[in-house]
Amino acid sequence: MVSSSAPIAAGPAVATYGNFIAGEWRPARSGGTFENRNPANQEELVGHFAASSAEDVDDAVTAASEAAAGWRRTSAIARSTILHKAAAILESRINDVGRELTREEGKTLKEGIGETTRAVQILRYYAGEAQQPIGENYPSLSPTTLLYTQREPLGVVAVITPWNFPIAIPTWKIAPALAFGNTVVFKPASLTPLCAVRLVEALAEAGLPPGVLNLVTGAAGAVGNPLVRDERVVGITFTGSNAVGADLRRIVAERGAKLQLELGGKNPAIVLADADLDHALGHVVNGAMMSSGQKCTATSRAIVERGIADQFTELLAARISSLKVGDPLQAETQVGPLVNEEAAERVAAEIERAKGNGAELLVGGGRPNENGLGQGAFVTPALFGGVNPDSRLGQEELFGPILGVIPVADVEEAIAVANRIRFGLSASMFTRDLGTALHFAREIQAGIVHVNSETAGAEPQVPFGGMKGSSSYSREQGKSAREFFTQVKTVYLDPPPMPPALAEARASGAS
Ligand code: UN1
Repeated sequence: MVSSSAPIAAGPAVATYGNFIAGEWRPARSGGTFENRNPANQEELVGHFAASSAEDVDDAVTAASEAAAGWRRTSAIARSTILHKAAAILESRINDVGRELTREEGKTLKEGIGETTRAVQILRYYAGEAQQPIGENYPSLSPTTLLYTQREPLGVVAVITPWNFPIAIPTWKIAPALAFGNTVVFKPASLTPLCAVRLVEALAEAGLPPGVLNLVTGAAGAVGNPLVRDERVVGITFTGSNAVGADLRRIVAERGAKLQLELGGKNPAIVLADADLDHALGHVVNGAMMSSGQKCTATSRAIVERGIADQFTELLAARISSLKVGDPLQAETQVGPLVNEEAAERVAAEIERAKGNGAELLVGGGRPNENGLGQGAFVTPALFGGVNPDSRLGQEELFGPILGVIPVADVEEAIAVANRIRFGLSASMFTRDLGTALHFAREIQAGIVHVNSETAGAEPQVPFGGMKGSSSYSREQGKSAREFFTQVKTVYLDPPPMPPALAEARASGAS
């Protein structure tokens, strides 16, 4: 029986949430839990979650394996109906879930609600995708052969997700996995397990059979590691760091499984002298600073034509220093905290290191103390001027509210600098010149290209992913999701030989 609510024990103020395995909410076998705290105020506990281990992973993979045959044979239309229902359930909870997202992750309430709304849209998109054609019909050498392909699910897939989009990314992996008939073991980031619980609740309440979707919370070493090594797991989709991506590549190369990686970015926004500077300013600042810069698609390099570099840098400095940093639940706040204290310390240390290496900090970069902000993981949005594109600040993904301005001579140098990096996720250019925009779209080494809009953002109906070190040459979302979550079967269907009398009658034209 699928229980309709996740908490397995509610204390006076803070609930304890379990794993979801074989259709039941259960504690970790060890009984252990871990804490989830609000990064805007570390005194505030959001919940206790199951600290799982290899035994729980084994239970979840067993449940997913046992459910696989039944789910594969469930009609795609029935699967679509469940996704539609889950969308309606989550939609009815958008404000509550968006608020919980903000409390555990730290992005502003507007962004938290926006992201939850996006998860609803993603569920609806895949409810539709489940009803699209799943194969092709081909001509054959033989005129009587019916030669066709059909896409089939992989089987059990592991979904491993980051904390920075705690409901959108799990949804854009889980919804297509389910739509195309796979069963899932879901390991969310330990910093944002509550959004994972809320997504699983919506899908379970929508009528997913037991074992089709399993949630196991806990540390990467204790949960992720046994999960990706389990031979029964035939597909792994991961969004996160390049270091973990490299480990996954090694593991999968040894044991064999289908792997999809979405990794880091160091995304450029090129601003040319002919651009509408006010328009560019808004998009560059939003791209760099929303979610405190913690998006793999965030803008971290503003590559600006020298003729306007001083003017644009001044505009950036004024806009960035005016951003209101504070409690992300307050409507007027524009930039919330980083995801936790460790992240804030790491980012503050990167800022110090860049200064030590001679980079010029123009605004921000401090740890604010006033108005109670000292309790949270806050770093004020930082702008560096005259950044050397080959320095650490110009090359490494720092995952925080840090933007560096790189002045260049012209569009050719801008594109060369933009490309001289190991990442290639997203890139944008601000210009009024159509020919230059098309040249940029052809030459830039990025999986997602924007002209006159910010580097972040992803619509569910188009492929999402990066070039070079930003992904594994695969794409998520849109029709690409079907590529990853299915495998192709080719069927040669020949009629048996006709009885001679019938063959003769047909040949003579009789019916
Ligand atoms: C977005 O830009 O809205 O982890 C989505 C990330 C990306 C998703 C970005 N995989 O930041």
